[in-house]
Amino acid sequence: MTDRKPRVLATRLFPEDVETRLTAKFDAKLNPTDTLYDGPSLAMAANGFDGIMCAAGDALSTATVAALPESVRMIATFSVGYEHIDVAAAAKRKIMVSNTPDVLTDATADIAMLCLLGAARRAHEGTTMLRNHNWVGWEPRQLRGVHVTGRRLGILGMGRIGQAMADRARAFRMTIHYSNRTRLPADLEKGAVFHADPDEMLPNCDFLSINAPMTPATRKWVNAERIAKLPKGAVVVNTARGGVVDDEALIAALKSGHLFAAGLDVFDGEPKIHQGYYELQNAFLLPHMGSATVDTRNAMGFRALDNLEAFLLRGQTPPDLVTPS
Ligand code: DGY
Repeated sequence: MTDRKPRVLATRLFPEDVETRLTAKFDAKLNPTDTLYDGPSLAMAANGFDGIMCAAGDALSTATVAALPESVRMIATFSVGYEHIDVAAAAKRKIMVSNTPDVLTDATADIAMLCLLGAARRAHEGTTMLRNHNWVGWEPRQLRGVHVTGRRLGILGMGRIGQAMADRARAFRMTIHYSNRTRLPADLEKGAVFHADPDEMLPNCDFLSINAPMTPATRKWVNAERIAKLPKGAVVVNTARGGVVDDEALIAALKSGHLFAAGLDVFDGEPKIHQGYYELQNAFLLPHMGSATVDTRNAMGFRALDNLEAFLLRGQTPPDLVTPS
């Protein structure tokens, strides 16, 4: 260890309190204009830095990681998802990678429930009608949606966020089905019905919530064939990663009426989302705001800093080390 403060490159404009701690602990280069780096410019900007504090959407692909200067020893992402980082390429370069689990579980599950309710209860149509001055008053047949209480919810990916979503859904007396790589112990399962084969869960889903990370195995998992296995009138909710859904297939099912609605907070290729979504009245759409509360975004930043400080200041293994799968 030398006496100089380790240098950290912040790729984004992070919350104020997070940047205050970042600059107190490290010789940090901030990004006050929040100008996005592409791969080559990020590799170039990282020259002379020990660590990179990045976020979901920063393209730390195989090529970018390979091009990082020798100085870089750690990448701490301000996110729980880390599919934007080639972790295997980083491991090859002996670059540590960390993420921010736990701290965004509740905020993201809250937004998942908002997406579920917003889609089922036609919130987009209702708010649009009202704001466009088209509301003529209460009508017995107006904006009838899908009843939520007591219905079946299937959760793909029963990690922390999936479990938090299940807890919320239980308050709506929903029956929980789930599919996960491994079955949960009874105290975490809390009576939910486990499906070892996720395809077999689908016919039981009045609502399907995607809470699985984006991996080669989950890429476009929600496709036409699987959507066809959902009961007619089902609702699809995605707060995980847009790439888990085949947009063409979902849009076709929303148009045909096989699906009643979708509630989506994440999109493949965001922010340039599939144009088809804009035309759908039965799509309740949010701009990737699952973790967007003041407390949660601070907690994510502090967690990323806990990791950077452990490794770069104390020479310890980052507590949220991510390793190649
Ligand atoms: C994450 O942490 O992966 C989120 O998607 C960012 O809010």
